[in-house]
Amino acid sequence: MDKFVINGGKALKGEVRISGAKNAAVAILPAAMLADSPCVIENVPEISDVTAILRAMQCLGAEIRYINRSTVQIDPTHINSFIVSKEMADGMRASSYFLGALLGRMHRAKVAPPGGCNLGVRPIDQHIKGFEALGAEMSIENGMVEGKAPILRGASIYLDVVSVGATINIMLAAVKAKGLTVIENAAREPHIVDLANFLNSMGANIMGAGTNVIKVRGVDSLFGATYSIIPDQIEAGTYMAAAVATGGDVLLTNVTPKHLESITAKLREIGADITEYDEAVHVVMNRRPKKCNVKTFPHPGFPTDMQPQIATVLTIADGTSIVTEGVWDSRFRYAEQLILMGADIQVDGKMAVITGVEAINPAPVKAVDLRAGAAMIIAGLMAKGTTEIDNIDHIDRGYENIVEKFSALGADIKRIPKIEGRVVFKRA
Ligand code: EPU
Repeated sequence: MDKFVINGGKALKGEVRISGAKNAAVAILPAAMLADSPCVIENVPEISDVTAILRAMQCLGAEIRYINRSTVQIDPTHINSFIVSKEMADGMRASSYFLGALLGRMHRAKVAPPGGCNLGVRPIDQHIKGFEALGAEMSIENGMVEGKAPILRGASIYLDVVSVGATINIMLAAVKAKGLTVIENAAREPHIVDLANFLNSMGANIMGAGTNVIKVRGVDSLFGATYSIIPDQIEAGTYMAAAVATGGDVLLTNVTPKHLESITAKLREIGADITEYDEAVHVVMNRRPKKCNVKTFPHPGFPTDMQPQIATVLTIADGTSIVTEGVWDSRFRYAEQLILMGADIQVDGKMAVITGVEAINPAPVKAVDLRAGAAMIIAGLMAKGTTEIDNIDHIDRGYENIVEKFSALGADIKRIPKIEGRVVFKRA
C-alpha cells in the first residue's frame, strides 16, 4: 500500500477548490439507474468510492462514459442484472443504495453487504423496514441481501433512528412506487436534498427533503437529466480544520457556506476568523486554538464525519476539550494514533477528553478509516518533522487529489508508492 510522507510545521496558505460531495455522488450515481434515458452528472469527485460505484453499475449493464474529468454520462437503458456481488461491493460503503435503486428499476435486487469504514456496527435494519413497508419481500441468504417486489406501493415509514442511508434508500425505492410514501424522522443532510433535487429533475415528485418529513409521490417513469453535484461539506471542513490547525490563511472556493455552518461555528469558537462569501469561505488563524467541546449529531448538528479532524485540532488547544460522538458506536480508533504523536487523549466509550499540549510530534501512523486518515494528515501538517501515514487507501476513497491540493497550499506532502513484490538492494 502507498504511504503519505509529510514534512509538517508549516502554515497552510493559498486557495483550494472543493470537489463534488462524495456522499451525494454515491447516492446520485445509482439513482441514475432509475431513468429511462441517459443522465449526465457533473462535479463528480475523482475518488475510489465513485470508481467502485461506476464499476458496479457497468457490471449491471449501464454504459458509463466520462465526458471530462468530473462529468459522467450514464446510460441505464441496457441494465440487465440485479445482482451486486461481493467482489463488486467490496470496499464500497454505499453498496446498499443498489438495493433501493434496483428495487425501483428491476423490482428485484441481490446485493452484498456494504464494505467501507469500520465505525462499529453498521446495521441496515431501517432500510429493510422501509423496503418491507413498500411491499418488498426481503431476505438475507449466503451473505447477500435480497429483495423482491412485484409491486411497490407507497407507505408511511417512521425511522427509529435518523439514518442517512435508510432515508436515501427509501427515496430510491419509493420514487416509482404506486402512491404516496411518507418518511418520518428522515435525515436532513445536504446530500439528501441533493438527491431529491436530482430525482425531481428526472421527473420525480419529492417534497420536504431537508426537513424530517419527506413525501414522495410515485411516478410511472423517470427521464434522464443533467445535474451538478453539490460541493463536499466534509472535504471543505477538512481543509478548514487543516488551516486552523496550522495557523494558516486559506480561501476555499466552490463551497456552500450554509452547509458549513456548524463547522464554521466550532472553528470560530476555537479562535479562527472565518469570512463567508456566496460560494467561498476564507479561514484565518492567528493564535493557539482555544479549548472547545464538540458533540456530533445528524444534520444540522456538527457532522460525525468532521469529528476526527476537529479533535486533532484540539490536541494543541489551550485547555481541555470534550468530544462526544453522537452518531456512531465507535469513532475514536484514531485516538491511539494521535497519542503516538504525543497527544493527550482519554477515550471512554463515546467520549474523548483531550488535554491540549503545546505541540504534537511526528510519528509513523496509519489511517484507520477515511476521516481518521484525513485527521492523520492534519496531525502530520501540525507536527514539525516527518510523519509517515500508512493505509492511505482509506483516504483515497473520499478525497480527490489530496496531495496536489495540500501541496498547492504550501504543504510538504508526498505519496510514496509501495514497490510490490520486489526487494531493491543498493549497490555497494
Ligand atoms: N443505523 C441503524 N440502522 C440502520 C441504519 C443506521 O441503527 O438501518 C444507525 C447507525 O448504526 C448509526 C446511525 O444510525 O449509528 C446513523 O447511520 P446512517 O445510516 O445515517 O449512516 P450511513 O448512511 O451508513 C452516512 C455516510 C457516513 C456518515 C453517516 C452519518 C454515506 C455513504 N456515508 O452513512 O459517512 O458518517 O451517514 O452522517 O453517505 C464518511 O463519509 O466518512 C462516512 C462514514
